[in-house]
Amino acid sequence: MDQSIKAYIRQLVQEAVQQSASSLSNLPSSTGRKQYVIANWKMNKNIKETLEFLQQLKEGTGVEVVVCPPAPLLYPAKLYVQGQNKEIQIGAQNVHQEDKGAYTGESAANLLKDIGCSYCIIGHSERRQYAQEDDATVNQKAKQALKRGLTPIICMGETLEQKQQNQTEKVLTTQILGAMDGIDVSQVIFAYEPVWAIGTGESATAEEAQRIHAYIRAVLAHIDKRNAEKVSILYGGSVNENNAQEFAAMDDIDGVLVGGASLQVDSFQKIIAVFAKGA
Ligand code: 13P
Repeated sequence: MDQSIKAYIRQLVQEAVQQSASSLSNLPSSTGRKQYVIANWKMNKNIKETLEFLQQLKEGTGVEVVVCPPAPLLYPAKLYVQGQNKEIQIGAQNVHQEDKGAYTGESAANLLKDIGCSYCIIGHSERRQYAQEDDATVNQKAKQALKRGLTPIICMGETLEQKQQNQTEKVLTTQILGAMDGIDVSQVIFAYEPVWAIGTGESATAEEAQRIHAYIRAVLAHIDKRNAEKVSILYGGSVNENNAQEFAAMDDIDGVLVGGASLQVDSFQKIIAVFAKGA
């Protein structure tokens, strides 16, 4: 689609969402939406550490627990949780958009599915930054994941500079419309991860995150009114055992995507307990 048409559509959606304050407040609360606590280990842990972690980790009632280790650890992690009958899902941190071919270093969606992954993180800000993934790539990857039976966890968020320039809603609207072109809203999970909050120890406040999550849901309602209220939207960015409760208390925050605090089993377990309790 022509860039100017895309910008025009984004503008229309953004204005409509902002003007209809009712669309933000009339959507139902999180009651009934699936809750998730997801560990994104990024490029951390070896096989011994992974198995020790999974041995100690307990699933939580009423919350989907997903661990996303580095690619070489996906299969041993899956074998381990399966062997122990643990209700812990394994997710990949990336997927390639093509079925197969000459793509050195990449992983195909059907291979990830084959080795037992259920989820796949797509469009993480770190990949947008160093692997130059844009919204069109995110869209292709999400379509490919869905085609092969993986649930995409679509990440989005603004940089500090964009936030300071009051561009957050504009950036998110562009990211959502770009990522969701031709995709069924009810089939994906979203993660709002403000770039400035990732790995900085400075999370968004729960109120700030709630406001943005409601905005994301309102944009989704423009795409698919019926399903927007059912979609789980997770918060990510310096979540830890001390602030998880505040996020869990918010209506439109349906779980968390955790980086640093997911590397220690104790802190990750405490975060799971927060969402399990509230479920
Ligand atoms: P931190 O929890 O370390 O800020 O990382 C968040 C993140 O990037 C999860 O995907």
